[in-house]
Amino acid sequence: MIIAIDGPAGVGKSTVARLLAARLGYLYLDTGALYRAVAWKTLRSGIRPTDHESVTTLMPTTLIHMQFLNGAMQVSVDGSDVTEELRTPEVTATASIVSAIPAVREWLLPIQRQIGQRGSVVAEGRDVGTKVFPTAAYKFFLEADADVRVARRHRELVAAGRGGAVETTSGDLADRDRRDRTRSIAPLIPAGDARLIDTSALSPDQVVEQMIATVSTGS
Ligand code: DC
Repeated sequence: MIIAIDGPAGVGKSTVARLLAARLGYLYLDTGALYRAVAWKTLRSGIRPTDHESVTTLMPTTLIHMQFLNGAMQVSVDGSDVTEELRTPEVTATASIVSAIPAVREWLLPIQRQIGQRGSVVAEGRDVGTKVFPTAAYKFFLEADADVRVARRHRELVAAGRGGAVETTSGDLADRDRRDRTRSIAPLIPAGDARLIDTSALSPDQVVEQMIATVSTGS
């Protein structure tokens, strides 16, 4: 059983997906963490993320492992636990760039699908309902007003001790959105059969309640 949740940055996907997975007793798969892991390796290797060829040559020798401990996901790259380092601004910006490289997306596809076979999963990302799990039992696409998304992302950064100017957050989010929505391969778009939820005026719990209602009625 797969529940797919897609949407842009700052829309509340991770919070909602984690809560929903906990409520249902499912695994939580954060697919963005895999793109962040590739970004981490790219930065660590001193390769420019726009250098598609060099990033592509990294893939066959890269070992990404995800494990789930008490519902939390832990990511290692080539044997090192990089979970904490995946949230830095450098990794965030680089992930958005390397995720547009077709070879990176192809390489991560079977890794995501293998995790999907480990049991019932709530999977969250940009192309989970369209590409990774097109036959997911339930698909949700979250949206929210741009200013709400900027405010949410800024609060997260402040809580993590990385809050800068709100204008910087706004600019970074707009850049990521543009790249994610306009890339030629697996752009961020709702699956035709996804249920759209505007989270602008909803709390995470309210979004989860809507999802549970959909899942429990099988509609
Ligand atoms: O959800 P996130 O912010 O952790 O994702 C990091 C980047 O990875 C994001 O800019 C786009 C990319 N990504 C993607 O292209 N496809 C996914 N399924 C998940 C993330």
